[in-house]
Amino acid sequence: MRRRRWPGKRFDLVGAVAIGWTVVEIRDVTAGDLDAVLDNRKRAFGPLPPSSVEQWREMVAPVLAEGRYLGVFDGDRLIATSRINDYEQWWHGRAVSMGGVASVTVAPEDRGRGVGRFLMQGTIERCAELGHVVSALYPATTPLYRSLGYEHAGARNRVTLRTEALRGLGAREGGVKLRRSVPDDAPELMGTLRRVYAATRACGPLGWDERSVRRRLSDEDDFGYLADDGFVLYRWQEGNIDVDNLVAGSETTARALWSLVGTASSIATTVTASVEPDDPMLWLLRERSYDTVDQTRWMFRIVDLASAVAGRGYPAGVEADTVVEVNDPQRPANSGAWRLSISGGAGTATATTAPAGQETSRLTIGGMSALFAGVQTSALRRAGLLTGGTPAADDLLGAAFAAKPYMIDYF
Ligand SMILES: CC(C)(COP(=O)(O)OP(=O)(O)OC[C@H]1O[C@@H](n2cnc3c(N)ncnc32)[C@H](O)[C@@H]1OP(=O)(O)O)[C@@H](O)C(=O)NCCC(=O)NCCS
Repeated sequence: MRRRRWPGKRFDLVGAVAIGWTVVEIRDVTAGDLDAVLDNRKRAFGPLPPSSVEQWREMVAPVLAEGRYLGVFDGDRLIATSRINDYEQWWHGRAVSMGGVASVTVAPEDRGRGVGRFLMQGTIERCAELGHVVSALYPATTPLYRSLGYEHAGARNRVTLRTEALRGLGAREGGVKLRRSVPDDAPELMGTLRRVYAATRACGPLGWDERSVRRRLSDEDDFGYLADDGFVLYRWQEGNIDVDNLVAGSETTARALWSLVGTASSIATTVTASVEPDDPMLWLLRERSYDTVDQTRWMFRIVDLASAVAGRGYPAGVEADTVVEVNDPQRPANSGAWRLSISGGAGTATATTAPAGQETSRLTIGGMSALFAGVQTSALRRAGLLTGGTPAADDLLGAAFAAKPYMIDYF
């Protein structure tokens, strides 16, 4: 996977546009703008406690020079912001470069006149400049992002369980040895995640850079434990346990980590955990009849269609050779007819011309993005995101892109 840093690169001005009587322009936020960014942020999402303000400044300072914080300015006045987090996202066991869009804000007095859309157009272009082949975001509202090609794709699943149900999951003898994690374990933890995500053909979860992983392992209220093929990071939350992440590459490690969490059962009644939709733990539980799952939805967009298709993994047995027509008014390079060739777990998309006399499958960029993320063709068709084509082509596309995507992390 390509991961670009752009040290010292000057980005092209993304653009300027007339909105009402004023011309606003989009450009990089600099250190001198940070007080205004914070003010905008508070007006959009509510106040931040002083300790969080310091953490926020520490977090954003390094990303400014990387072209990852954009502002819309009316003269000198900052009226809107967005941040692009540098992630990798796993798709059927392969990681692609993903721009995670966060902190989208428009000043209250400037809302409702197209600034948000202008900001997001620039943000998508900047994702492309940064080499991100796909982008994702947690939407507070859908229409803005949908109008620019993002579509609902997956969820962050938070399951709540009785702590006692986890306590007994450990192996009776010969269990896995766990050790406490420290910030210097960041590279090892990242390697473990990569191995497990590749082997389990993970769809959707994020890979973080070392700086961020180190920061998360430094939080003294988080407790981390490592195994050779897994780890857990959890904390206390109002007398109960909150599992930020638990990844296990084998049954024995899953049992060891979940039962470690379960040892809190004398104090904590419940455990709430971010999990895969088919987390193996759910099959280890002795009893299961109702799942209590809270979902926060995320939206997804292909930024560079050919690179995204080539970067993703596919089920090994699926052989597909079919043409789709994609319409992406925002990024015309993605528009047109594409020959999708999937074979041996790898895929390519090659620009072609639609075959004459055949009913080609036609997708909006939102539809193509949702298909890429495993949304069923039957749903896409009935939602108007997929037209043309044939039932056989639908089946083939569905088999090639099959996925139940999730994310563990909120951003
Ligand atoms: C959401 C927000 C960024 C939108 O900015 P904006 O400048 O008002 O958006 P625009 O004027 O460009 O509107 C673009 C489209 O989104 C729609 N839209 C904007 N705000 C909306 C809302 N709160 N609910 C539903 N639709 C909304 C508009 O109707 C418009 O669609 P249309 O052309 O079909 O009518 C802004 O209201 C804001 O900062 N809100 C508080 C923070 C927030 O929620 N951020 C998003 C985090 S994911």
